[in-house]
Amino acid sequence: MAKPLSRLLRREQRAFLSRDRAAWGEHLDRTRAFLGEGLQEADPSRPVLVLGAGAGLEVPWGLAPALTTGWDADPWSRARTALRHRRWAPWVFEDLTGGLADLDAAARRAAAEPWSRRRRDPEKAARRLAGLLPSLHPDPEALRAWIGTQNPGTILAANLMGQFGAVAERVVESAFGPVAPWEADPERPDPLAEALQAWTRRALEAFLAVLAGSGAILWLIHDRGVVFGEGLLDLGPWVEPWTAQLRSRGELEVSDPLMGLDAGALLGVAGLDTHRRDRWIWPLAPGQRHVVEALALRPRA
Ligand SMILES: C[S@@+](CC[C@H](N)C(=O)[O-])C[C@H]1O[C@@H](n2cnc3c(N)ncnc32)[C@H](O)[C@@H]1O
Repeated sequence: MAKPLSRLLRREQRAFLSRDRAAWGEHLDRTRAFLGEGLQEADPSRPVLVLGAGAGLEVPWGLAPALTTGWDADPWSRARTALRHRRWAPWVFEDLTGGLADLDAAARRAAAEPWSRRRRDPEKAARRLAGLLPSLHPDPEALRAWIGTQNPGTILAANLMGQFGAVAERVVESAFGPVAPWEADPERPDPLAEALQAWTRRALEAFLAVLAGSGAILWLIHDRGVVFGEGLLDLGPWVEPWTAQLRSRGELEVSDPLMGLDAGALLGVAGLDTHRRDRWIWPLAPGQRHVVEALALRPRA
């Protein structure tokens, strides 16, 4: 992975780890229990892959079979995991969307004239990038190739998918420099934000398609939704769309890091059955709660 991109991932992960984790106890317990179950049930004679392995905060590496590989584009992730778990696991540092380098190049081409490097007018640059994005089709080639050669029996995705969109935003912002390219007025349309959401959706679909074709048992944990606002919040019955699960008395502002995709339904259509699922609320920061979804799926017999 190119240096500026891996530096960006490192910064993101550092920001994640430096948050106040006082209210994370239940989230961490449930995540570790779920992923731990996946690791304990894995066939130890076959490779196991942990995607979004990060610093190992959520991954109980002590339960991981010997043939377990971590995958995370943050260049410090393996060392941090080793410090936390005293285990120097095999590791892959590639971009799991397969599309961040192209996105970065397109954003830089739009933000500044390639011949003079002079910055374009930010509004025009944002429009130019919005026009370029539909031609980008992220393809997780590295992941497909690894699965093709290693044939893992179990794959865990540890709180990774909800990050695809956030990382894509950081990539675009870093290309645009000091002036953020987003429309400040929430009442006005933002073609760049919409085009980037569509890019993220394509990245998620391509990623899930590779997982679906892997033939592995999948243990996925991801943000199903992000809820902004203080008021009471609870989860009602498990229905779609996920916003109908939210029980609250006050006004809530919600955002969907999966861009309208329902991972369980999509993988169901691709031939996997959900055999375990769980859900909980993760108070990530004051005024920001995540609805976390945990799904274990296996290929239909
Ligand atoms: C919320 S953190 C997960 C934390 C991790 N499960 C742990 O136990 O510490 C998401 C992780 O996904 C990684 N990540 C995000 N986008 C990625 C991408 N496109 N390719 C590879 N890794 C990525 C980040 O570097 C980060 O470590």
